[in-house]
Amino acid sequence: MHTDKKTILITGANKGIGFETALQLGKSGNRIILTSRHSDRLNDAVDKLKNEDIDVKGLLMDVSSQTGIDSAVKEFSKLNIRLDVLINNAGIGLKSNKSLSDDNEDILIETLATNSFGPLRVAKAFLPFINRPGRIIMISSGGGSMSDPIGGWWPAYCVSKSFLNAITRHLAFELEPMNISVNAVCPGWVRTEMGGQNASRSVEKGAETPVWLATEADQSVTGMFFRDKKQIPW
Ligand SMILES: NC(=O)c1ccc[n+]([C@@H]2O[C@H](COP(=O)([O-])OP(=O)(O)OC[C@H]3O[C@@H](n4cnc5c(N)ncnc54)[C@H](OP(=O)(O)O)[C@@H]3O)[C@@H](O)[C@H]2O)c1
Repeated sequence: MHTDKKTILITGANKGIGFETALQLGKSGNRIILTSRHSDRLNDAVDKLKNEDIDVKGLLMDVSSQTGIDSAVKEFSKLNIRLDVLINNAGIGLKSNKSLSDDNEDILIETLATNSFGPLRVAKAFLPFINRPGRIIMISSGGGSMSDPIGGWWPAYCVSKSFLNAITRHLAFELEPMNISVNAVCPGWVRTEMGGQNASRSVEKGAETPVWLATEADQSVTGMFFRDKKQIPW
């Protein structure tokens, strides 16, 4: 029997855009591997999706360390599951981050570990489990754009997303022969814990382009940056 059902792993999916993306993709019949760095939050989020009759499995994963990723891969490999889509969503924006020239460098290091090295390490670690054709989606930010004016907010975060965009382009080039697409998304300014309540977009709107890239976008689309399902400049 032919089925379009995909298996989709989403990092940092216990809340915010990641959870909403899991909910939308799960409701349309896909199998979700929901990951979170805290077991209580993981279990709560998995229960919420199960209550919606979604086919979901939980996986504990802290993306900020290679050890956290390795132990998640070890658990995942026991499930004997292959992935069609990996969505690197987990991210942090440290409110203490005011300046690149003046802040303690620890802020930059922590931000890069989660927002840049995290997605790269997760992609590398899960690559052997990704089907061909397959898809990798990086949840980036307009803050990482090298063509928009500098916004003057969270510079370490913006640098981490520029780094993530560069990773996206290089991985897309490297993985194209394997028929694995790699694209980045700016979800816009979204009302989540990170975006705050004054943000202009609902979480449903924030999840729209990641959901589209995971399911409807043409497989040949790779190495691009999207907002509202449209390509935007790096
Ligand atoms: N909201 C916006 O306006 C906006 C705009 C542009 C881009 N984005 C991007 O969208 C993505 C999702 O953001 P959001 O707005 O949904 O933020 P959020 O509500 O703060 O959710 C962030 C998620 O990432 C998880 N996370 C953070 N560090 C992690 C780690 N080391 N390991 C595993 N999970 C980790 C969080 O887990 P905990 O619950 O354990 O903290 C949470 O599940 C991020 O990459 C963000 O940069 C957001």
